[in-house]
Amino acid sequence: MNTPALRPVEAPHYDTFENALDPSLAARLLALVEAERHRLGSLLNLHEPAFYTGFHGAAGRTAIATSGDRVVGFALLGFGDAIYPAYRPRLEGLGVPLARMAVLSGCLIDPAWRGLGVGRELTAMLVAHADALGLGYVVVTTHAENHSSWRLLCSLGFESLGQVALPDSGEPRILMGRRSLRKVAHG
Ligand SMILES: CC(C)(COP(=O)(O)OP(=O)(O)OC[C@H]1O[C@@H](n2cnc3c(N)ncnc32)[C@H](O)[C@@H]1OP(=O)(O)O)[C@@H](O)C(=O)NCCC(=O)NCCS
Repeated sequence: MNTPALRPVEAPHYDTFENALDPSLAARLLALVEAERHRLGSLLNLHEPAFYTGFHGAAGRTAIATSGDRVVGFALLGFGDAIYPAYRPRLEGLGVPLARMAVLSGCLIDPAWRGLGVGRELTAMLVAHADALGLGYVVVTTHAENHSSWRLLCSLGFESLGQVALPDSGEPRILMGRRSLRKVAHG
C-alpha cells in the first residue's frame, strides 16, 4: 500500500463532491459513505448541494486522502452555525462564542486503510486549519464505543463534554471539544 496523499478539496464554487472532485473519486467517496450508512446517517445527503451549504458553505473545508485513483478517506470541517442547536447549551461557559467555534463531521476511512494513522492525519489537518483561521474551539460527536475514534480524538487534545442525543434519532453520542492552543481573539 502506498502512503496516502492528503489534501483539502479545493474548488472555486463547489457545492457537491461531484462538482469538486474527479467523477470517479466522487463516486468512490460516496460508495464509502453508503457502506457505513448504519453509522453515518447524517452524511447520506453528501451528494446534495444543501448538505454543503448547510454544513460548511464556501469557507469550510473538506479534506480527502487518496491513494492513486482511490479515495481512502475524508473528513469535513464546518463552523459554529453547523453545530446542532441542541448541543449548544453544553458549549456555553467555555468562553468561546459560537461564531468562533468549528465542528468536525464524518471522518471516514476505507476499512482496508484503517489503523494506519490516516484518520488521525486527516483530523489533525482540519484542526490545524481551524487553528489557522483563529477559531478558538473545535467540537465533534462520537459514539462512546467507537474506540478508535475516541483514541484518535483524545490524542489530538479533545476532551469529553458529556453525553448528548442525536437530534434526528435520539441516539446517545459523546460531545467532545478541543480548545485551540493558539491565543485567540474573540469577537
Ligand atoms: C474512526 C476512524 C475514522 C479512525 O481512523 P483510522 O485511520 O482507522 O485511525 P488511526 O489509524 O488514525 O488511529 C487512531 C487511533 O485509533 C486506534 N485504533 C485504530 N483501529 C482501532 C481498532 N480497531 N480498535 C481500537 N483502536 C483502534 C489506533 O491505535 C490509534 O490510537 P493510538 O494512537 O492511541 O494507538 C475509522 O476507523 C473509521 O472510518 N471508522 C468508521 C467511521 C467512524 O466511526 N467515524 C468516526 C465518526 S466520529
